[in-house]
Amino acid sequence: MKNHDVAATWKYHDGTKHSPWSIRNNPHFLDWPNRPLPFKIYPTLEPFPLPRDVPQTGVAALSAISESVPSSGAKPIPDLQDLARILYFSAGITKQREHPGGEIYFRAAACTGALYEIELYVVTGDLPGLDAGVYHFNPADVALRLLRKGDFRGNLAQATAMEPAVARAPATIICTGTYWRNAWKYQARTYRHFGWDSGTLLANMLAVCAASGLPAEIVLGFVDVEVNRLLDLDMRREVSLCLVPIGRTAESSLSSPREAPVLGLETISPSKNEIEYPAMFEMHDASSLESEEEVAQWRRRQPIFPSFAQAGEAVRLQRLPLSEQPKDSIEQVILRRGSTRTFDKAASITFAQLSTIVDCATRGLSADFLKLPGAQLNDLYLIVHSVQALKAGAYFFHRERNILELLKEGEFRAEAYHLGLEQELPAHACVDIFFLADLKLILERYGNRGYRAVQLEAGAIGGRMYLSAYAQDLGATGLTFFDDDVINFFSPHATGNAAIFLIAIGKPMKRKSQ
Ligand SMILES: Cc1cc2nc3c(=O)[nH]c(=O)nc-3n(C[C@H](O)[C@H](O)[C@H](O)COP(=O)(O)O)c2cc1C
Repeated sequence: MKNHDVAATWKYHDGTKHSPWSIRNNPHFLDWPNRPLPFKIYPTLEPFPLPRDVPQTGVAALSAISESVPSSGAKPIPDLQDLARILYFSAGITKQREHPGGEIYFRAAACTGALYEIELYVVTGDLPGLDAGVYHFNPADVALRLLRKGDFRGNLAQATAMEPAVARAPATIICTGTYWRNAWKYQARTYRHFGWDSGTLLANMLAVCAASGLPAEIVLGFVDVEVNRLLDLDMRREVSLCLVPIGRTAESSLSSPREAPVLGLETISPSKNEIEYPAMFEMHDASSLESEEEVAQWRRRQPIFPSFAQAGEAVRLQRLPLSEQPKDSIEQVILRRGSTRTFDKAASITFAQLSTIVDCATRGLSADFLKLPGAQLNDLYLIVHSVQALKAGAYFFHRERNILELLKEGEFRAEAYHLGLEQELPAHACVDIFFLADLKLILERYGNRGYRAVQLEAGAIGGRMYLSAYAQDLGATGLTFFDDDVINFFSPHATGNAAIFLIAIGKPMKRKSQ
């Protein structure tokens, strides 16, 4: 089983680290005339338009992000309107801007380089308003396109070794990653971005499902080729990343797996020339699960719980009391979210705002690789610049005790500037939250698939941080970083860890009125 040969992950991870040297010596440039199309287009398939005037849930964003759906009273079957809401607020176009390189269609969730390499598909039984089938979602015209007619949910149940949430879901959304659309700018590092960018999108999706009263969770354990074949993917261009079963039916409603012949559906080439990066194929292949037995075994592995001794001064998080939490709905917050381009260096946020962001984002993410409460792959390290009632300095978050431990006190704006790839955003934010992970332990437990899991978990927690910051009228942006310099900055505490993700939070600079 290739998944256990974890040398493949180390080769990919070490080979795609950013350092001041690697950035200076990379001759890569953006070939604008060859910029990939931001949408997957099937020219021969008829669109099935989704309703655009779907009623919003009105559920407060902070509750939608952090509360899982109560089991009693949950609406078990999504209808077409629910599906339209979930797809639009996860991957729909929310803004449009002119750019010298062409029009950019910004989407509901943050995505590296605004390149939107994550595609969504739906595998469903008969739903109110939608016939059973395998569909592709195109955000450009807010429409589904039918790839296969009929109920193929049994194929997904089989591919996930009868994962209960998938076996009982009336519909499952599948996220895929298209290599070239992101690699045009980021080259081989795109495989990390698959996890980050599907993660931010999943934060929206899970929150909107919760607000719609529908159970949903992230499923990473599946036989890759089975799902890719069902979606008729050209695996050198696009691969399945995760499944999100939505809703719950009686077990007896599951159909048996059906023949899924190759369709070879025509799609428009995204660019004149596409460059392949073998390092990503190797990483994907090594982290693929090859049989139902392997999936079942993968699902049984022991989760990871935090076990850090605390030595430094500690501060307990103090989330905003419910009565003082902003009530803007999840839909309003998603529509106004957008990565902050300039932070106000002179501004500060309150400790309650920071506590609310960290607490909402790290609370109970539903995923098959985190089956037990308290399990989490990423650890959070912070550089605090200007949070009221908190000393400036570097901190570690003990999530099991809900406390921040001061690792070193001081003003670290210059260091943050450097660590965040010499950008002003992390230096001018109020706080930078770094995600680090014990990759050695993760790979021991989960094999190479653990690398997909840790990147995706970071993206999903980061995506929830975006939402909880914007829910409180703050700003946020994901950032990239110099891998080893991040670890050195937080060492000795972080010695041996890997840098996975970074998000900066603060107050956006107000535009001067003309
Ligand atoms: C994981 C991640 C890393 C990012 N890294 C950077 C970065 O290093 N610098 C930057 O200016 N923006 C960064 N961004 C912000 C994206 O450029 C932004 O999400 C994208 O342009 C879409 O715009 P929107 O978030 O406003 O919708 C990052 C976003 C994500 C999700």
